Amino acid sequence: MRKKTFASKAAALLALAVLATGVAACGGSGGSGASGGKSASGGLPDGPAETIELYRSNCLVCHGPDLSGNMGPSTDLTKVGARLDRDAIRQRIVEGGGSMPAFGDKLSAEDIDALTDWLAAQN
Ligand code: HEC
Repeated sequence: MRKKTFASKAAALLALAVLATGVAACGGSGGSGASGGKSASGGLPDGPAETIELYRSNCLVCHGPDLSGNMGPSTDLTKVGARLDRDAIRQRIVEGGGSMPAFGDKLSAEDIDALTDWLAAQN
């Protein structure tokens, strides 16, 4: 009886070990599944689809695929709503400044408002 218990415990442990090794090997070589399910906004905060699209086609090159900035800390917009108020954000988009181009003549007032609202909510 005791012997049998020991044997089945050993078998269970062995099975666990095999399982763990199998899982580890799988995790090491696989990884293809992880990049599969991106949401509609990708790494960006949620927002209206048109606004996300505006950002993607006008701002992403410099401010990055997740707002964290492609050109150093001054282009990090992840917490821009905490740093700048709505007016300051809008003014920056309209007038540009530093190495940022002005968008006042490229985007409509509605588009600029939408981007401003979305960014002002990032805080
Ligand atoms: C050509 C690159 C470039 C593009 C395109 C661009 N920006 Fe910028 N943006 C910058 C740079 C560089 C700064 C920092 C400028 C500085 O103050 O020196 C900046 C700063 C900002 C700031 C102020 C951030 C802060 O904390 O002061 C906001 C807001 C902003 N950009 C929004 C936008 C939006 C919205 C778009 C798209 C409509 C956009 N940017 C497109 C380069 C860019």
